Amino acid sequence: MKRVLITGANRGLGLEFTRYALGRGDQVFAGLRNPNKATALQELQALYPGQLQLLRIDVASRASIEASARELRTNLSGLDLLINNAGINSRSADAGEFDKHVKLGRLEPEAMIDMFRVNSLGPLLVAQQYLDLLKAGDEPKVVSISSWLGSLSDKQSGGNYSYCASKTTLNMLMRAFAFDVLEHGIISVLLNPGWVQTDMGGNRAKLTPSESVAGMFKLIDNLTEEHAGRFFDWDGKEHPW
Ligand SMILES: NC(=O)c1ccc[n+]([C@@H]2O[C@H](COP(=O)([O-])OP(=O)(O)OC[C@H]3O[C@@H](n4cnc5c(N)ncnc54)[C@H](OP(=O)(O)O)[C@@H]3O)[C@@H](O)[C@H]2O)c1
Repeated sequence: MKRVLITGANRGLGLEFTRYALGRGDQVFAGLRNPNKATALQELQALYPGQLQLLRIDVASRASIEASARELRTNLSGLDLLINNAGINSRSADAGEFDKHVKLGRLEPEAMIDMFRVNSLGPLLVAQQYLDLLKAGDEPKVVSISSWLGSLSDKQSGGNYSYCASKTTLNMLMRAFAFDVLEHGIISVLLNPGWVQTDMGGNRAKLTPSESVAGMFKLIDNLTEEHAGRFFDWDGKEHPW
């Protein structure tokens, strides 16, 4: 039984990570912004009594991240797995106008920085806040959900500035984090989930959430020190930076 914290757990890949972890008996802390809009998670709470706790976390807010850790510490002595999953892209409701992120001539720094707060800084600040609990975890791991769109070597066209760069930044921040925490026995990696059928991925995407998450969990379960700080695809292949 692992103690698992997942951000952005109320829909998409986060919900599927939650379902998968509950199904194998883990104790899950599901991070979400609005517990009043969590019908799917409430159904899972009924299906897995005592195994699932909802935890309010807005990863763009330092105060919210700190408050979530205070709440969790009251009944938890260690954390075994943190999945930094929450994210937005240029079409997400939170991103505002699409052109502000993608179109040269219309780019808006405030909107772009807001995306960086969620996708790049959020995962690092959550991991930093939970570091003491991770250090006390059993074979602790930190998994940050990146994207092939953050890969410099994959980028062969213009546009999509904010999202691509926010994931490239995430990759660098969490690679540095991985080296810092390895001495504490924490293994931290970046994962590309593939193109997945969620609100973000759309229904033309190639993978179902369950295919992507099952692949990622297979990799997560087999992580060793040698994997620390590296970038992998959902099916375990190494992804070029
Ligand atoms: N789907 C794909 O094809 C694909 C491909 C590559 C990478 N990814 C990455 O995979 C991760 C999950 O994506 P998804 O496809 O599941 O997206 P999604 O369906 O749009 O779900 C995004 C989740 O992130 C949460 N979220 C957004 N901003 C947040 C914030 N400030 N604080 C806390 N939670 C926040 C959302 O919560 P609300 O419900 O409150 O908005 C939602 O639970 C993201 O990091 C994404 O970049 C996805």
